[in-house]
Amino acid sequence: MTDRRDFLRRSVVAGVGAAAGLATSRELSGAPAVLSTRVAPTAIASANGLEAVELALGRVADGRSTLNAVVEGVNIVERDPDDMSVGYGGLPNLDGVVQLDSSVMHGPSRGAGAVACLEGVKTPSRVAVDVMRHTDHVLLVGKGAQRFAKSMGHPIENLLTERARRRWIEWRASMSDSDDYLAPEESGMPTSAALEDGGAAEAAVASELLDSHDGVRPGGTINCNVVDAKGDLSGVTTTSGLAWKVPGRVGDSPIVGAGLYVDNDVGACGSTGRGEAVIKTCGSHTVVELMRSGMSPTDACLEALRRIVAFTVEPRLTNRDGLPNFNVNYYAVSKSGEYGAAAIWSGARFAVCIDGESRREDTAYLFERAD
Ligand code: GLY
Repeated sequence: MTDRRDFLRRSVVAGVGAAAGLATSRELSGAPAVLSTRVAPTAIASANGLEAVELALGRVADGRSTLNAVVEGVNIVERDPDDMSVGYGGLPNLDGVVQLDSSVMHGPSRGAGAVACLEGVKTPSRVAVDVMRHTDHVLLVGKGAQRFAKSMGHPIENLLTERARRRWIEWRASMSDSDDYLAPEESGMPTSAALEDGGAAEAAVASELLDSHDGVRPGGTINCNVVDAKGDLSGVTTTSGLAWKVPGRVGDSPIVGAGLYVDNDVGACGSTGRGEAVIKTCGSHTVVELMRSGMSPTDACLEALRRIVAFTVEPRLTNRDGLPNFNVNYYAVSKSGEYGAAAIWSGARFAVCIDGESRREDTAYLFERAD
């Protein structure tokens, strides 16, 4: 019987073999050789990650680990009560409970950690890091994930802000004309948008809807990936998932290979948008594998999106042209610092920071929106 200590011993021997010039698994798999030239440090994220990419690149420039860099970057958004798609302030499930999903991958150590349906912790990405660093597991869910988070010193707090609660109340009231919940127009109460400084609130709602999973229900997520000057990579994806979801629903964000994938020999990719479509096509893993075969990050993202289109055959998920009635976005960076992002539908943007300069750029896309 082998135990973990035996396994570790064998790993050390394998490492010595590699150092002595024996073929490594990377060489056997035909992956590109590790770069010896300096890479321009680059961070890429979803559009809500402009501050995240800036902070991540700053940390990398200070010599911090790529994983700490991306996690500290997305923590800004996780802690922001005004971002209603991630962490604290995220829109809740159909019971009015905020359930968070997150995964992290650290390229150099081939490490991965994730949490799903985690309640009460503002920064699920940090719990995902703890799963990676302090357990022999990759994914913890629900009550077990929360117990673990508590044991690691994460405070358990109420994540449902007043603004998110009002949105949920309105959504619940809009579900049926024959139940006892009154919509604002029936009750004479102001809508949540009207309560929140009118125009600005309406604009915020409109922008959430633009990036929603199905054009009607708000969704959103942040993904952030970074490559440092040595060509080392890390990534993180974190979300409150689809608003009003069935309790227990897990999206792509905490699924390694779906909402996030990092191979330190090739590149990193993460996603936002309809998680179910990304899970069914192993999205981020597909993008990284296409990059391994020589595609640019943008072309790899577009090809992985074409697979989603091919997989989308259900009438409830297609428009009258037979195309997906939802959006998915991929964000990718290669080991050499080449980056790209793509979406099924036009109009999306992404954030990027290269050598200290951050900006938003338009994503490539498969189809032009009609409106
Ligand atoms: N992509 C985030 C989700 O579907 O939950």
